[in-house]
Amino acid sequence: MTEKPLSIVVLISGSGSNLQAIIDALYKQPVNAQIKAVISNKAEALGLERARKAGIDCAVIDHTEFADRLSFDQAMMLEIDRHEPELVILAGFMRILSNEFVDHYYGRMINIHPSLLPDFKGLNTHQRALDAGRTKHGVSVHFVSNELDGGPVIAQAEVAINTNDDAESLRLKVQQQEHIIYPKVTQWFAERRLKLDNQSVYFDHEKLLKPLLLNPRPSSK
Ligand code: GRF
Repeated sequence: MTEKPLSIVVLISGSGSNLQAIIDALYKQPVNAQIKAVISNKAEALGLERARKAGIDCAVIDHTEFADRLSFDQAMMLEIDRHEPELVILAGFMRILSNEFVDHYYGRMINIHPSLLPDFKGLNTHQRALDAGRTKHGVSVHFVSNELDGGPVIAQAEVAINTNDDAESLRLKVQQQEHIIYPKVTQWFAERRLKLDNQSVYFDHEKLLKPLLLNPRPSSK
C-alpha cells in the first residue's frame, strides 16, 4: 500500500468493547489504518487495558480535575492533536462535548449510538424502544455535530425486537451489531471512501440519501 495509514485516536470512558472490535478488525484484515492513541477520561476504564495489551499509547485526562467543560476539552484537544489524527472515534466516551471541540474535529469525528437515529437520542435507548412498542431497533454510526446524537448518519444496522426481549437482551443484540458496524465504517475511512461535505455524507463520491444499511442488507444489493 502506498498511501499513508489513516491515523486514528479513540476516546473512551468505559469497557471499550467497541475499541476492541476495531483493534481486532485492524489486526485481522489488511486495513490501512493505525490507532495512534486511546484517551480516557476515567483512569479505571477497562478499555485502557485493552489498548495497552495491543501496544497502543494511552492517556488519561480526568474531567473532574478541570474547572469547566471548555478547559477539559482544551486539554483533550492538545493531547489528541499530538497524534495528528485524521479520524477521532468516540467509543463510549461519556462526556458532552463543547462546540469548540466539535467544530475542531468536524468531518473527522464519529460516534456510535445504540438506536436507529434520529429515534432515541440520549440515554436508555433500549428501554425507550421497548416502551414505545417498537418492533425494530438498532445502532447508528454518525459524524459528530453540535447537536447531541444529531450529526449526519453514515450507517445503521437493525435488530428485531421480539415479545420476550428486555432492555438487557436488546443491549446484547445491538452490541453484536456495534462490533460489526464500527470496524466496517473505520475501514471505509481508511479506504478514503467516506466524506462529510456541507452536512451531507458522501460514500464513494456519491451523496447518501439515507444511511447505509449493514444489517439486514438491502435486497437490491
Ligand atoms: C455502546 O453501547 C455505544 O453504542 C455507546 O456506548 C457504548 C460503549 O460500549 N455509545 P463499549 O465501551 O464500547 O463497550
